[in-house]
Amino acid sequence: MSDRALRFVLKPAVFVASLGPVGWLVWAALTNHLSVNPLSDITNETGVWTLRFVCITLAITPLRRVTGWNAAIRFRRMTGLFAFFYGTLHFLTYVIADRFAGLDFPDGFIAWSTARNLAKSVSEDIYKRPFITIGFTAWLTMLPLALTSTSGMIRRLGGRRWNLLHRLIYATGIAGVVHYWWLVKADISRPRTYAVVVGVLLAFRIIRARLRAVPVRAPVRSVRLQ
Ligand code: HEM
Repeated sequence: MSDRALRFVLKPAVFVASLGPVGWLVWAALTNHLSVNPLSDITNETGVWTLRFVCITLAITPLRRVTGWNAAIRFRRMTGLFAFFYGTLHFLTYVIADRFAGLDFPDGFIAWSTARNLAKSVSEDIYKRPFITIGFTAWLTMLPLALTSTSGMIRRLGGRRWNLLHRLIYATGIAGVVHYWWLVKADISRPRTYAVVVGVLLAFRIIRARLRAVPVRAPVRSVRLQ
C-alpha cells in the first residue's frame, strides 16, 4: 500500500470506525434504543471498548512481526489514544451514574460543596471497592501514555525512555482484565476471553525477548587431531 493511500484513506477510515461505538451510543441514547438503565449501558459499553482498544493496541507489534507489515505501527498512537478516550468516557459515566447521582446538594448542583463531596465519594469508592481500585489503576496507567503520545514528547524523553514508559500498556491490559473479572458476578466467560487475548499478546513479547536474548553461537570449527 502506498504512503498516500495509508495517510489519506486507511488512517481516516480507521479513525472514523473507532468513533463508531461512541456514535452508536449517542444515537441509541437519543432514539431510546438503550435499556431502562441507560447510564449503566453506557458504562458497560465504554468499559468493554476501552479493553478492546487496549487489546488492539497490544496486537499491533505482533501483527507487524508476524506479517511483516511495518506500516501497522502508524496506527498504534491512534488506537492507544482511543483506548484512553473510551476509558475516560467510562470513568466520567461512572462518576455521574454511580457517584453524582447519590449525592445530596445542600448548596445546589453548581457549588464548591458539590465538587468536594463528589471528589470524596469517588476517592472513598476507589479505596473501598477492589474492582474500582483496579479499574482506576488501569485508567491511571494510560494517563502518562496519552500525555506523552506527541512527537515532541518522544523527542524530549528520547526513544529508549519513551519505549520503556510505554510498556505501561501491558499493566493496563492486565489491570483491565482483572477489573472485568472482579466485577462479573456469575458468568466469567467474557472476562476469561479477554484474559486469554491479553495473555497471548503479552506471551508473544516474552517469548520474543527470550529468543532474542539467546546468544548466537559461533559455528564450531572442526578440530583436526594431530
Ligand atoms: C477509571 C476507572 C474505572 C472505573 C471507576 C470503572 C468502573 C466500572 C463500573 C462501575 C462498571 C460497571 C460495573 C457493573 O455493571 O456492575 C465497569 C465495567 C467495566 N469496565 Fe470499568 N472502570 C474503570 C476503568 C476501566 C478500564 C481502564 C477498563 C479497561 C481497560 C475498564 C473495563 C471495563 C469493562 C470491560 C467493564 C464491563 C463491561 C460489560 O460488562 O460489558 N474499566 N467499570
